[in-house]
Amino acid sequence: MKNLIDIKDLSIEEIEELIKVAKDIMQNPEKYSEKCKYKKLATLFFEPSTRTRLSFEAAMMELGGNVIGFSDAQSSSTSKGESVSDTIQVVGCYSDIIAMRHPKEGAPLVAAMKSTVPIINAGDGGHNHPTQTLTDLLTIACEKNRLDNLTIGVCGDLKFGRTVHSLITAMSRYKNIKFVLISPEELKIPEYIKEEILEKNNIEYIETNDIEEKMENLDILYMTRVQKERFFNEEDYLRLKDYYILNINKLEKAKKDLCIMHPLPRVNEIATEVDEDDRACYFKQAKYGKYIRMALILKLLKIS
Ligand code: CP
Repeated sequence: MKNLIDIKDLSIEEIEELIKVAKDIMQNPEKYSEKCKYKKLATLFFEPSTRTRLSFEAAMMELGGNVIGFSDAQSSSTSKGESVSDTIQVVGCYSDIIAMRHPKEGAPLVAAMKSTVPIINAGDGGHNHPTQTLTDLLTIACEKNRLDNLTIGVCGDLKFGRTVHSLITAMSRYKNIKFVLISPEELKIPEYIKEEILEKNNIEYIETNDIEEKMENLDILYMTRVQKERFFNEEDYLRLKDYYILNINKLEKAKKDLCIMHPLPRVNEIATEVDEDDRACYFKQAKYGKYIRMALILKLLKIS
């Protein structure tokens, strides 16, 4: 595998190997501290980010490498009209691997076709976010000790939430996975995810707009924010943005070992009182993101 554009680029065995390496990095960070000496990661972020960009940069630094890049397309020659394809060919002259976020769906794939160095999709529009999914898989593997036999509630903006699309795609490959898809009518999961992923793989799922309806069955509750930047209409966003606010009362019937996840950033969809609950895993999840990205950088650079 040269690039990571879609979570489906990775086989289950490759994901298992990445998780194994990430766990080893957590246990033995010093063993990895010079693995990427003299290597450079370029982070090209044409859209805002905190976790993905900074965890990639921290990951490369903890591997002993260096980082170049931009966090705002306006500060790059994109603002003068340079194409993604030209930018990538140039940045490939200065770096060994590129992590790229772009508002246009498919832009990282186009970049990969032109690039001489590995490209990692760090999020493309409302489409995919495979390194968030790897982060989520490592979180589930560490917090639940398994990736199968799970009932997963996914709540919020299931229409535009790219993390949700990648997570459902990834988890549908494991045994006995059930989904409870919780969203307002306007933000339901796209038909193509239902038809091409869930139904094709015979995955059991229900759709509901009630967050408490199946709370007692859930092993994982994956909250998401309403994706303001993907709405065409401010009025619709304002009407839907606070549709779900998870608080302690709503968790009354939840399992004691429920794992509450969120790719972050959070807006209002989880009350801060939940942060104190042992079941809140979202800040740990952000930390796991650095370790799995370290493992991914090593894999793509073919460093063992
Ligand atoms: N989860 C995630 O992608 O966060 P950022 O947008 O801050 O990178």
